[in-house]
Amino acid sequence: MIPINERKADHIRICVEERIAPGYCYWDDIRFIHNALPEINADDIDMSCTLFGKKLDFPLIVTAITGGFEGAVKINSNIAEACAELGIGMGVGSERAGINGLSPESYSIIKEFDVPLVIGNVGAPQLVNQHSKDMFTSEMVGQAKDLIDADIMAIHLNFLQEVVQPEGDTNAQGCRDAIRELAREHPIMIKETGAGISKDVAEKVKGIGVRGIDVAGMGGTSFSAVELYRAMDAEDSIRTSMGETFFDWGIPSPVSLADCRGCGLPLIASGGVLDGVHVAASIAMGASAAGVAKAILKEATESAQAVIDKLTTIREELKAAMLLTGSANISQLAKARHVILGETRQWMEQL
Ligand SMILES: Cc1cc2nc3c(=O)[nH]c(=O)nc-3n(C[C@H](O)[C@H](O)[C@H](O)COP(=O)(O)O)c2cc1C
Repeated sequence: MIPINERKADHIRICVEERIAPGYCYWDDIRFIHNALPEINADDIDMSCTLFGKKLDFPLIVTAITGGFEGAVKINSNIAEACAELGIGMGVGSERAGINGLSPESYSIIKEFDVPLVIGNVGAPQLVNQHSKDMFTSEMVGQAKDLIDADIMAIHLNFLQEVVQPEGDTNAQGCRDAIRELAREHPIMIKETGAGISKDVAEKVKGIGVRGIDVAGMGGTSFSAVELYRAMDAEDSIRTSMGETFFDWGIPSPVSLADCRGCGLPLIASGGVLDGVHVAASIAMGASAAGVAKAILKEATESAQAVIDKLTTIREELKAAMLLTGSANISQLAKARHVILGETRQWMEQL
């Protein structure tokens, strides 16, 4: 089996170099009704919002990407510096490696920056028995939280990735109970990793102490695609085929958001968010904030300034969309008129 730190380095390389998104941009299907006479001053637009009790300067999170190998120190440091500078939230990648002593500093580096909302990360599959591997206990989740001073811990539901990768952790039985137990002791949210959350799953976690959901839907990074490239490198024909078959498996992100929005929990909309208009669309469709991973990944491997430039572009596009919809603040943007076209509309008509 490939060591976890090599796998994580592989993920970054593949996501930067290869085509890892299905191609259809679902967020582009959300089109705003242009307001030709907005009657607001762009300089007065208030983009701030509150998420999990923390104030963000605009409604964006850089969602979980990495940690657990040497190269991740710089990546997480670049992202953390940018998120602190721009006043937005940040998640780290799965902390299992760090808790097992693999480059813990690649996670704890985030503590050197004043990031307004810090989100830890643990995989749901690690909370239940998997082929007698060590399980993640509540105490270890506490250690993961302390490692980065997290405000909330995200439990990722990544069974698509687990099922297409060799020796993946495919026992999903008991995860809900394990999440319920954790939520008694720690602030917990759940997130997908690119296949989306349905209304049924949102309802299942609603009553068990979970404080929010990142839908992380289909249309952006596909872990099936990531595993496809790894399988090709390993000349594993079965896994290569599975990676191809499940490349675009999942619920498109805006559809997932629409499906979950009645659940009453704060929703983060991620999966294929690439620009500020996509962020605006997610707010208009009921999200509390949007999330990006792939959109800033290449920049994160370069420098903090490159991430700052990319996130500033997204912020300025969001502000422009707010002006052009006559939205002086995020609550007004949440009510901005829009239409839904294309495949997204076809999905939504059948929910
Ligand atoms: C290189 C890479 C590594 C990731 N690792 C994790 C992880 O460890 N834990 C997690 O919850 N999500 C992980 N994700 C998923 C992202 O947080 C996000 O949900 C997903 O990529 C969809 O967003 P995007 O389309 O903007 O990339 C990772 C994404 C990328 C690109």
